[in-house]
Amino acid sequence: MSRALPVAVVISGRGSNMEAIARFAQHPDSRYRVVRVIADRPAAGGLARASALGVATAVVPVREFPAREQFEAALAQELEASGAGLIALAGFMRILSPGFVQRFEGRLLNIHPSLLPAYKGLDTHARVLAARELHHGASVHYVTAELDGGPVVMQGRLKVRPNDTAEAISARVHALEHIIYPHVCSLIAGGRIQWRKGSVYFDDEPLVAPLIEENDVAA
Ligand code: GRF
Repeated sequence: MSRALPVAVVISGRGSNMEAIARFAQHPDSRYRVVRVIADRPAAGGLARASALGVATAVVPVREFPAREQFEAALAQELEASGAGLIALAGFMRILSPGFVQRFEGRLLNIHPSLLPAYKGLDTHARVLAARELHHGASVHYVTAELDGGPVVMQGRLKVRPNDTAEAISARVHALEHIIYPHVCSLIAGGRIQWRKGSVYFDDEPLVAPLIEENDVAA
């Protein structure tokens, strides 16, 4: 357990992905452990969830900093102090500066509710339905300076149903997210996924396409 990879999770909201990552880490044979959950606002619902799981929490209150630079400096300090070797952004609603991203390059993951590179940005579920897409899902990717643009490691894919609503499909996407995000953390902790100079490797081969989890969970 002590050799498990230390992971920090950064949130803004309810933290269901954080909870999935933290719960998975409680398996005795987990290759990673969650050392800290950091929120950018004290009202983030995920803070209570983390505490209930016995995970240390911290708040870096974005509103109390005059500008992004100071906020990011405080966030970086908190992350370094946590000893995290991997940082999972999970519903973190801030855009990080290129300098911050560069500082943590190769250690910074995000989850996005679409099959990237399609549907970057917000309101993905409604946009997918409006476009009558046949498939939707979520992507875990390394964070680079390009918003929602870093290399995708794994995707959870599902079929859009004829009468889907944004709420219904959002619930199914979330359920998939809760499978793929802990899975990616485990693969990285076990050394099977590696970041080497801007490229992702899986089992020592360049990862040419995202790993896919097909699972139309009935959530
Ligand atoms: C998820 O849909 C994730 O893809 C997006 O923000 C949402 C976070 O949900 N980045 P939660 O806070 O983990 O429940």
